[in-house]
Parts: sequence; C-alpha cells; structure tokens
Amino acid sequence: MSLADCHIINLPKIQDCRGNLTFIESDRHVPFDIKRVYYLYDVPGGAERGGHAHKALYQLIIAIAGSFDIHLDDGVSKKTVHLNRSYNGLYVCPMIWREIDNFSSGAVCMVLASDYYDEDDYYRDYLGFKAEIKNADK
Ligand code: TYD
Repeated sequence: MSLADCHIINLPKIQDCRGNLTFIESDRHVPFDIKRVYYLYDVPGGAERGGHAHKALYQLIIAIAGSFDIHLDDGVSKKTVHLNRSYNGLYVCPMIWREIDNFSSGAVCMVLASDYYDEDDYYRDYLGFKAEIKNADK
C-alpha cells in the first residue's frame, strides 16, 4: 500500500432549506465493511493524535465538524491533507503512518474502520514501522 492508494472520497450530500444530510453505506461509499466507528472530540488546542500505522486496517477519516490536518507517510513519501468538509472522507489504507494535528476549536474527527479495535494491529513505533516497510520491499 502506498500514498497513491489514499484519497478523498466524496460522500453523498442532500441539500435542502432545512440543512444538509450526508450518509455513508458499507461497501458502497466506502470500499470496506464498516465494523467500528470512533470519534475524537474536545481536542485541546495544539494537541496531536495518531502517531501510528495499522497492519491491516482500512479507515475513512471525516471532519464531521471543524477542521484538522492529516499527515500521511508510507515510509517513502509524505503528504498532508486538510479536512474541513463533513461530506469528504480521507480513505487511509494499511501500512500508512498518520499524524493528525491543527485541530480547529470544536473539531470532531470521525473514523470508520474495517475491523474491531485490536492493539496487535498497530505499529506505534515509527522506526519499527519503517523497518517493516524496508523488509517487505526485499
Ligand atoms: P489511539 O488509537 O492511540 O488514538 P489516536 O490515534 O486518536 O491518537 O487510541 C487511544 C486509546 O484508546 C488507546 O488506549 C486505545 C484506545 N482505543 C480503544 O480502546 N478502542 C478504539 O476503537 C480506539 C480507536 C482506541
């Protein structure tokens, strides 16, 4: 998996005079079965989240409210994505190191995940993650 596999997914947006509505269906709007949803909120100014990669987990990350930056790193290249629309999701594949910062006041980061929480699926050490990428390339 590389950064090229990570991209913005435009979610449906139904607009009328009462406001907007966005919906997300498993396997239709996201290319995986949604098994878990979690969200980050009440993030203090200047805080950083993430700082890990997943071995097998697929995710869609959405700025449900406010905005933040997501820094992606596949061990070779890096890119930063600014999320600030409730109808945009960032699709993040396995083996991508991510860090999230620059949260606006009141930001809510919602994450749809392809599997249940499993600490064994995490790389929490950047050097260990890089070593694994190098190993896989051999
Ligand atoms: P972590 O994944 O490190 O958060 P972030 O990437 O946002 O910085 O998770 C923080 C803590 O919450 C850690 O102890 C694991 C726990 N956790 C769960 O119990 N279930 C979950 O679904 C998630 C995402 C985290």
